[in-house]
Amino acid sequence: MKSLFFWGLTAILASSAYKDIVRIGAADGVDRSGTETAAVSKDGSLSAEAVSPDQNAPADTASENGSLSAGAVQGDGKVAADATPEDGNTPADRAGELVELQEPKQVALTFDDGPHKIYTRELLDGLAERKVHATFFVVGKNIEGNEELIERMEQEGHLIGNHTYDHVKICDLSGEDACVQVEKTSALVREITGHDTEFVRPPFGAWNKEMECSFVMIPVLWDVDPLDWTTKNADLVVQRVLGDVENGDIILLHDFYESSVKAALRIVDELSKQGYEFVTVDELILE
Ligand code: NI
Repeated sequence: MKSLFFWGLTAILASSAYKDIVRIGAADGVDRSGTETAAVSKDGSLSAEAVSPDQNAPADTASENGSLSAGAVQGDGKVAADATPEDGNTPADRAGELVELQEPKQVALTFDDGPHKIYTRELLDGLAERKVHATFFVVGKNIEGNEELIERMEQEGHLIGNHTYDHVKICDLSGEDACVQVEKTSALVREITGHDTEFVRPPFGAWNKEMECSFVMIPVLWDVDPLDWTTKNADLVVQRVLGDVENGDIILLHDFYESSVKAALRIVDELSKQGYEFVTVDELILE
C-alpha cells in the first residue's frame, strides 16, 4: 500500500510538474500547443507507469518535435538532463523553478456561527475522516451545552477563533462593550481548552480598529464567500467556491446549516483532488 501511495503521489507531482513546464514554455512565446495536446491526450494526464523512474516513459509519449514531453519529467519530479530547454535556461534552472512551483496550494476553510449541536458534529466527523483541519469562529452564546464540540475541535487539531458572544456588529458598540463581547467568548473557550482565542472574525465583517481591549486580537476576514447561508442548495455552494478559489484563499462557510456542512465536505474532496492542502488560518497568514 505504501509503495502504491508513493507512486500515486509521484504521478501527481510529475503531472503537475509537467503542467508547470508547459506554463513556463507558454510564457516565452513558443507555441507548443500541438505537442501539449498530443502528450496529454496520449496518456490521459500521465499515468503512474509513464513516470515511474525504473520504467522510462513509453516511446509514444516522447515528444514528436523534440520539445517537452512526459519523458522529460522523472519520477523524482526533476527535469531530466536530456530535456531540451527552448528558453535558454539550463535544466538545473528549470529544476529550481519546478521546486518552487510545486509548493502545494493551500486554502483555509473557516466556519462561522457555531457550534451547532448537529451540524458541527457532522462536520467534525467528516473532517476527521478526511484528516483535514479547519478554523472555527465560534459564537459564545452557542457554546453552552456544546462544550464537548469545542473540546473536540481542540483535540482534533482545528483552530478555534472568536465570533463575539452575541454575534453583534462590533462597530455599533462602545469600545468597552465590544471588548466584553470578545472577552466573554474567549473566556468560555479558555475554560474548555486552557487558552484564549487569538483570532477574531468580526460578524458582518465589521471590525473596529480603534478598539482598545486588554488583549490583542487578530481580525480575520475572507477571500471566498459563497453566501452559503442564503441557500439550502449544497451544489450551488460547492460550485460558487470551486469557481472562485485560488491558492492562499480563506473560504467562508457556516457550520450552522446542513447544506453548508454537506457542501464543505464536498469542497474538501474536490480541492484535495486538485492538489490543495487545508491549513488553519494561523498557518496560512503567519507563515
Ligand atoms: Ni456570523
